[in-house]
Amino acid sequence: MAEPRRVIIGITGASGTVLGVRLLELLREVDGVETHLVMSPAAVRTLNIETDYTADQVSALADVSHNFKDIGAAIASGSFRCEGMIVAPCSVKTMGALASCLTDDLISRAADVCLKERRRLVLLFRETPLHAGHLRAMKDVTDAGAIVMPAVVGFYYRPASVDDIVDHLAGRALDLLGIDVGTVRRWQGQPQGENN
Ligand SMILES: Cc1cc2nc3c(=O)[nH]c(=O)nc-3n(C[C@H](O)[C@H](O)[C@H](O)COP(=O)(O)O)c2cc1C
Repeated sequence: MAEPRRVIIGITGASGTVLGVRLLELLREVDGVETHLVMSPAAVRTLNIETDYTADQVSALADVSHNFKDIGAAIASGSFRCEGMIVAPCSVKTMGALASCLTDDLISRAADVCLKERRRLVLLFRETPLHAGHLRAMKDVTDAGAIVMPAVVGFYYRPASVDDIVDHLAGRALDLLGIDVGTVRRWQGQPQGENN
C-alpha cells in the first residue's frame, strides 16, 4: 500500500486559530493525506475566545493529535517522512523561537526538523504592526528555508465573508505544499477592455 502523504499542522496562540482548523477540515477531504496536529496551550485559549470549537473537536479533525510538550513524538524526528508543516496561525513567540533555533516544545521542534530536512515549512504569521525584531525574525526564518506567509487579506477576489478569507488563505497555504483543495479563487487575468 502507498505511504500516506503526511502533513503536520501546528496551531499557536496568535489570532486566527480558525485558519488551522480549516486546514484540518480541508485536508480531511483529500485522499491519501494523513494529518498530524500540535496545538499549543495558548492556541487552545485563543481558540476558545475566537471560535465555537473546543480543543477536543479540533483534535478529532486530525488523524493524529500530539501533545505540545511531547518532544519525543514521531514528528520530532527527521526520520518521520512528511510533505512538510504549516503553522497556522503562527505567533511572534513561535516565529521568534524558530529564528533562534529554540525548540523546547513540539511545534517549534517539528518545524525546526522540517527546516533541517529541507522540507516545506509555511508560517502563517499573524501580528500587526511589526517592530524591527519581528522583521529580523521573519528574515532569519526565511534564510533558514521557511516560507513566511502573513495571514493578510487579498481583496482582489472580493471576499464576501470571513469564511471566504479563511478558505482563500488556507488554500494558498496548501498550494505551497502542492495540495490543491479547490478553495482558491485563482486570478484569471483582467478581462479584456477593463484595464486602464
Ligand atoms: C485572544 C488572543 C489573541 C492573540 N493574538 C496574537 C497574535 O495575533 N499574534 C501573536 O503573536 N500573539 C498573539 N497572542 C499572544 C500569544 O497567544 C502568546 O504570545 C503566546 O505565548 C503564544 O504562544 P505559542 O506560540 O506557544 O502559541 C494572542 C493571545 C490571545 C489570548
